[in-house]
Amino acid sequence: MDCKYLNSCGSCVLELSYNEQKELKIAKIKELFARFYSGEIEFFESSEVGFRSRAEFGIWHENGDISYSMRGRNSKKIEIDSCQIVDLKISNLMPRLLNAIKDDEALVNRLFGIEFISSAKSLIVTLLYHKDVNSIKDNLANIQSKLKIGLIARSRGVKLEFGDTKINEILNINGREFSYIMSDTAFIQPNKKMNEKMISWAVNAVENAADLIELYCGHGNFTIPISLKFQKVLATEISKSSIDMALKNCQLNSVNNIKFARLSAAEIMSAIAKEREFERLRGVNLDSYIFSHILVDPPRAGCEDRVLDFMNKIDNIIYISCNPLTLQNNLEILSQTHKVVKFAIFDQFVHTNHIECGVVLKRIK
Ligand SMILES: C[S@@+](CC[C@H](N)C(=O)[O-])C[C@H]1O[C@@H](n2cnc3c(N)ncnc32)[C@H](O)[C@@H]1O
Repeated sequence: MDCKYLNSCGSCVLELSYNEQKELKIAKIKELFARFYSGEIEFFESSEVGFRSRAEFGIWHENGDISYSMRGRNSKKIEIDSCQIVDLKISNLMPRLLNAIKDDEALVNRLFGIEFISSAKSLIVTLLYHKDVNSIKDNLANIQSKLKIGLIARSRGVKLEFGDTKINEILNINGREFSYIMSDTAFIQPNKKMNEKMISWAVNAVENAADLIELYCGHGNFTIPISLKFQKVLATEISKSSIDMALKNCQLNSVNNIKFARLSAAEIMSAIAKEREFERLRGVNLDSYIFSHILVDPPRAGCEDRVLDFMNKIDNIIYISCNPLTLQNNLEILSQTHKVVKFAIFDQFVHTNHIECGVVLKRIK
């Protein structure tokens, strides 16, 4: 990548060719997981530029003028005028948006950040202010009608929306299209093409399927396509806005074998252990499920002990991880009952040290 900010920007820190980055990541993973797996590690390559469909920038204020900023490698922040890793819709909008804001002093004043979310059918911008956005309502409406984007403005405790702010995505999973709507406040995978590869890989890893339990399911990103392989699916997640979207995504894709419930991982564990009853599980007979598979895609902290104990009892595990260190810790427990049969690296975060992995485990008979 030929980026003028490569030495100074704190986001893209690996100053290596793509092949060198790939070798580095494979070597790190082989070393970390040698105790658990010695087979082939699949590496799913990303584009080197234009791969991020979600991006956040700070705002640099100087002498009444503004520009975008990023955290710096050796300084708190650096001023930038472009970013090569964001997708084309975002990079095209960045200068137009900034110019439109600069035309109106009220919009410039106390603006501290801009977030972009691009998807197949939408481009949503969120402007973040250190002042009540109600005071600039008309100015915001004006800029939205000029740029024809979905516009959100936020300040402490206030959210205003202008135009269509729904995030509509289409993902191609193993040649079939799935539609999603997502919430701007909940988790969204940042690299769309890699997300498609990751979901396709997880779907293809399913064999001998009965019922699936999925924890940390978000808006049904994996759940909807993978549900086609199972008789019944129980999928849980802590975020209310994600579960609201997941229910809509079932309808959008005419899927009717999934029960989504807003429950933390700890809550669904105590419901299954019959320690507690939840109104949110009303009408769900937990005893009717024969879980042949569990799918987890936890936050960076990995899975808690109670979840690992439960996973130990399920024949097939599909574990998607954004943190190799917690994955390694969790495999210490899981490898007491299971064997790793597939290992993949999904290069979501090109030019960074972050590594996303997928692991399939089978229970040792
Ligand atoms: C890495 S994201 C994956 C989401 C989804 N699988 C996807 O691909 O979009 C992790 C998810 O775990 C959820 N989460 C965080 N802590 C949780 C907890 N204690 N119990 C259940 N879900 C949790 C987050 O809200 C987030 O949606």
